[in-house]
Amino acid sequence: MRITVKQQVLLAPAIVLILLIMLLAFMQYTYWDLAHKRHEVKAVGTTFVALAEADMAARRLHVLLRSMQHNGMAAPEDMALVADLYEHLLNAINRMEPFGPIKGSRLISRLQNMAENLNPADSPEIENMAESFARFRAELSTLSNATQIYRNRLRLIHEQDINQMVERTAVVSMSVLVLAIALGLLVSAYFSRRILNRIQLLSSNAVRIADGKLELPPAPDHIRDELDTLAVSINRMTKRLIRVVSTEKLLEGAEEERRRIAMDLHDQSLSDLSTILRGLQNLSAELPDDAPREKAQKLELELERAIANLRDIMNNLHPQTLDILGLGAALEAHLEDHCYSDDLPEYHLYIDPAVSQLKLGRLKQLTLYRIAIEAVQNVLKHADASRYEVSLEVREKELILSVEDNGKGLSDDSFHSGSGRGLNNIRERARAITAEVSWKPSRFSTGTRFELTLPYQS
Ligand SMILES: Nc1ncnc2c1ncn2[C@@H]1O[C@H](COP(=O)(O)OP(=O)(O)OP(=O)(O)O)[C@@H](O)[C@H]1O
Ligand SMILES: [Mg+2]
Repeated sequence: MRITVKQQVLLAPAIVLILLIMLLAFMQYTYWDLAHKRHEVKAVGTTFVALAEADMAARRLHVLLRSMQHNGMAAPEDMALVADLYEHLLNAINRMEPFGPIKGSRLISRLQNMAENLNPADSPEIENMAESFARFRAELSTLSNATQIYRNRLRLIHEQDINQMVERTAVVSMSVLVLAIALGLLVSAYFSRRILNRIQLLSSNAVRIADGKLELPPAPDHIRDELDTLAVSINRMTKRLIRVVSTEKLLEGAEEERRRIAMDLHDQSLSDLSTILRGLQNLSAELPDDAPREKAQKLELELERAIANLRDIMNNLHPQTLDILGLGAALEAHLEDHCYSDDLPEYHLYIDPAVSQLKLGRLKQLTLYRIAIEAVQNVLKHADASRYEVSLEVREKELILSVEDNGKGLSDDSFHSGSGRGLNNIRERARAITAEVSWKPSRFSTGTRFELTLPYQS
């Protein structure tokens, strides 16, 4: 299963949060249960008080009616008292609320009906009324007894319930809190240790690579999270670095070899040829006849040409001006020597004065020099241009080499034609010094702009 680092970090607080929310829900339920029971107790209490009041009013009415029955007549103030007591009775009966066992039964509504039928104003016969009151009081006392019993039981249960609830809430809260803390600690310890170990491994690999020990660090087979992605990236970066470093070493070795060959040619072949030239010059001076002297002078000229060619080859093998005057001057000298002619396209060279201040290594200078020469050679060979520009500019933290012509432009299959090696060599050489190269349409109306960007540290 793929769990990202973010999820691993958030897992422990999420577990704690879920457990606390469950605890909150449990407390809420307990509170709701308590409120419900409290309401029940209140209903029983209200009904009990209403029953007592109703019983008192009914008893007084009953006594009053009996005395009126006994006297055989009703005084107006007695009738007013009866009406008052009846209203009191009705009021009390209407305040009763159904509770517990009598919720389903129709006991209260039956009592209310009976009370409504007992209105003394509707029934002039005092005798009948007294009897009705006797039945009503019996019913009232049945309900009163039931209420009393239920009230006592409820009080007991309620007390027990509250004790149990307090105990249960305390136990559950403590257990959930302990569980949440323990789980949170365990999960965060497990994942943070895992993440930390992997970060330490990645960091030690990166430090080793930065110290120049280019051993390939292990890469995971499949990617599960961001750290795996990082491990794969470090692995790929190291691979590329190893390739770049080996190319750089290869190029350095090759340049060193070319330099050695140039020196050998200079010290051995060139000095031998110069000795022969001097001998030939002496010989021709000593020859008395014109014909053999002319022949000897012709040979002298050819030998001088051969010596000049050899110097060219030596310079190509290792441009001495580069070591002595630097990149800009070496490029200028090369263009003047090889590209300045009426039958070749006109060129313009711009060398930023800041280039001479840069501390470029020998390999970088040589690489830039060879790349520039190949780009110029390509213009001369393929572009059919009438004009081209070579420039070496310093921008912020970057050195830009560009060769831009107004020729026919690069075709799409130039990179895949397979015949030439120049473009590939340019790419390889640029990669070895961590430079980037590109070929784009030129800023002239037609043609190609070759550009190399080399980041440098001042
Ligand atoms: N400035 C340019 N203008 C037009 N076409 C170009 C230019 N530079 C390169 N090309 C095209 O790109 C192709 C590949 O160039 P590349 O330098 O790789 O080979 P090459 O010059 O033919 O041979 P080599 O460089 O090995 O002597 C060329 O054949 C040419 O068609
Ligand atoms: Mg070429």
